[in-house]
Amino acid sequence: MSDESRAAFFDGTAEHYDEDPTFHAGVADALIAPLPEGPELVLDVATGTGFAAYAALRLKPARVLAVDLSPAMLAKAEAKAPELDPSGLISWRVGPAVPMPAEDHSADVVLCASSLHFLGAAAFPDWLRVLRPGGRLAFSVVSGARFKPSGPFAELVPDDLKFPHDEAEAAALASSAGFVDASAQTFTVDTGERVRSVFLVHAIAP
Ligand SMILES: C[S@@+](CC[C@H](N)C(=O)[O-])C[C@H]1O[C@@H](n2cnc3c(N)ncnc32)[C@H](O)[C@@H]1O
Repeated sequence: MSDESRAAFFDGTAEHYDEDPTFHAGVADALIAPLPEGPELVLDVATGTGFAAYAALRLKPARVLAVDLSPAMLAKAEAKAPELDPSGLISWRVGPAVPMPAEDHSADVVLCASSLHFLGAAAFPDWLRVLRPGGRLAFSVVSGARFKPSGPFAELVPDDLKFPHDEAEAAALASSAGFVDASAQTFTVDTGERVRSVFLVHAIAP
């Protein structure tokens, strides 16, 4: 699928995306929680409406670069900036997130929330490229037991990633790509109407 078609699909989801804040904010908070304060540069890969980028401000970064293919998702993200980022630390960029528009070994943190399944395996070598040695990777990944894309939605999902069935397989996505000290935990939100469960993976660039 072309980037244009992909962007059009996600543009169509932007209007109602923030109506599910419990899950999106929960994933973002849990990805950020173990990370050290004071990074120079944080990258938010496929930022959507900016949940992880805004959560990253709690790390007191010098700057955050947030990238997404969908202009409508980014417009929703930027609209929250006067309230959530009054100092203007976050830069918003429309475009493909692989490769990220960042110099080699320039980033201290790479975040990717709820988006790896749209990016595919090519994301990992790019994250190794942009992270400085010792830089931190934090991403969420859907469970292979739950995630069964079908119909037109399946066209958005590259078929080169084996989605993990447990925490060990989730951590192995990072370690087999060359990251070290990979760990994973299960993150579940049960609203009563719907149970959503993903793996959160943290790892370090060698
Ligand atoms: C489920 S949303 C997740 C958004 C956000 N990270 C969050 O946690 O709420 C997936 C996002 O991935 C973006 N996306 C999908 N493929 C992309 C690509 N190749 N490059 C950049 N963004 C992409 C979509 O536009 C959409 O905003």
